[in-house]
Amino acid sequence: MCGIFGYVSSKEEALGPILIAAAERLTYRGYDSVGAATMNNGKVDLRKDTGKVDAVAAKYNIAEMRGQRGITQLRWATFGEPSQVNSQPHLDSTGDMVGAHNGNVVNNVELRLEFIAEGMTVRSQNDGETCVHAVERYINRGYEFIDAIRLAYGDLQGDYAFVIGRANDDKLYAFKKGSGMVIGIGEGFTCLSSDLPSILPLTRNVIRPQDGEIVTLWADRVEVRSVKDGKQIIRMPETVTESMDAVQKGGYPHFMLKEIHEQAQVARELIHLLDGSPDVQPLVEKMKNARHLYLIGCGTSYHAASVGSVYIAQLAGRAAIPVLAPQFIAQYAPAVGYEDVGIFVSQSGETKDVLNALEAAEKRGMACFGLANVVGSTLTKATSFCLPLCCGYEISVPATKTFTNQVVTFLYLAYRMAGRNTRDLELIPELMNQTLEMVAPQIESIAKDINEWNDMYCLGYGATYAIALEGALKLKEITYAHCEGMLSTEFKHGPLSAVSKGFPIIFCAGSNDVPLIISGINEVKVRGARTIVIGEEDARLRANGDDLVVIPKSDAQISALLGVLPLQLLSYHMSVMRGFDPDFPRNLSKTLTVD
Ligand code: M6R
Repeated sequence: MCGIFGYVSSKEEALGPILIAAAERLTYRGYDSVGAATMNNGKVDLRKDTGKVDAVAAKYNIAEMRGQRGITQLRWATFGEPSQVNSQPHLDSTGDMVGAHNGNVVNNVELRLEFIAEGMTVRSQNDGETCVHAVERYINRGYEFIDAIRLAYGDLQGDYAFVIGRANDDKLYAFKKGSGMVIGIGEGFTCLSSDLPSILPLTRNVIRPQDGEIVTLWADRVEVRSVKDGKQIIRMPETVTESMDAVQKGGYPHFMLKEIHEQAQVARELIHLLDGSPDVQPLVEKMKNARHLYLIGCGTSYHAASVGSVYIAQLAGRAAIPVLAPQFIAQYAPAVGYEDVGIFVSQSGETKDVLNALEAAEKRGMACFGLANVVGSTLTKATSFCLPLCCGYEISVPATKTFTNQVVTFLYLAYRMAGRNTRDLELIPELMNQTLEMVAPQIESIAKDINEWNDMYCLGYGATYAIALEGALKLKEITYAHCEGMLSTEFKHGPLSAVSKGFPIIFCAGSNDVPLIISGINEVKVRGARTIVIGEEDARLRANGDDLVVIPKSDAQISALLGVLPLQLLSYHMSVMRGFDPDFPRNLSKTLTVD
């Protein structure tokens, strides 16, 4: 997710300890590299590398850094692998400016080429450096610093927050577009951060700038101006009263609930990133031309691959084989070759089962690509290239936002394979927010009603089949109840005998499959089951199911994706009602690096 922190003091002082402490408070966002820069009397001191905060701080003696202004940054790689040169902050060509960002600049690749052509010294692949050169470009053209920053804002596309300072100055400047940023005002200093936790121990007096505003920070005051016309905007400071723990969880009681509510934002960022990624088209070509196309993962990532395979078939008319990684080794690896393509899907990029399958595929010469959240993980290094999921750190063990972004990535790839306009997918974030709003109270009351049951089913068909599998996995994982996910049409082939009065059965109803789902509903209803239907508003579903949990209208593929949100909420509420901690379910760990 990356995090930035900046500090402006009234005098030169030991800033190292302040920057290290602030970086430590940002670590919960996830990171692979750390850097710090101080500025004073015409000099910039920059120290950075990959690794943990304490290790990088010790290696480069960051504690001894002094200055009147300082910046620290924690990097979560998306553009460019984790490395010293890609770590942030970054310098401009001459070393006069230093800046850092969090988020993604999606036209990074094009802008870098322009800056190189304009004669600037571009040292890394990182988009944080691109932000610095974007300002440098206008300085080179003779603009004042504040105007250069305003013009740079217009050139940088994506979702990010950015801070920059000059060696010979007494201020820092910052702006944001789509990402969070908070300004702190203390006694004899001002500061800024990607979010509140790194500011709170210093001051509870904050200003929250909006997109399209430039903030100038002096030690004793802060000025907010509009990017558009440079006019000053009056923003009064507010006093924050929440505890540090509540702030880290964004005011939510658990990370899982916070991450469920982050899904719209990370989906928006992902779609922007895919629009700007040079890796997408070559991958799409490989997928289209493959003899056989395999989508390989475990657990939740396998479910995303399964939804993806339905999208690819429905939209692009191509068969894609979703397969659990260990089964890939047993069933397909002996038969694959260089004409085949495999996409290995993993949140962590470290799941041993997935890496074993990758090794088996590579031995046979198969073309191997990845989808992973943790850039710099083994999977991202071992595949030809790996698309980032762009979710930031997922702390809660149950995967939520990484699942939906895996599914969005497959939907995006299926659109591109089919030659469809991906603009239509920009509706997804808003539809996700609407879904959460629409279903929240009803899901909580259903959770209460069925919480006494320790056995249930979750059924789907087509694209909602794997959504049902995912809902069942979430329910098992954090409620410790048995919940089986199944193709709805299979239920009559055996499990029907388990139905008794009140037995909960959840149906994920795809908008094109309503008649089929209704047959399933009636089959179990006449035997006493309590039927909970997740689908779009439909008089037939309302007349047949006991509860209809309505999700917004969209097309069949997006609708399937939206259907997982009520299931995530249901499992969350049931887990909390049972007195469990959904973030850290017993016996499980976030990353499974064992066979
Ligand atoms: O990191 P990965 O996506 O490779 O992990 C695979 C599974 O262990 C993981 O998806 C697991 O099923 C989830 N924690 C379930 O919520």
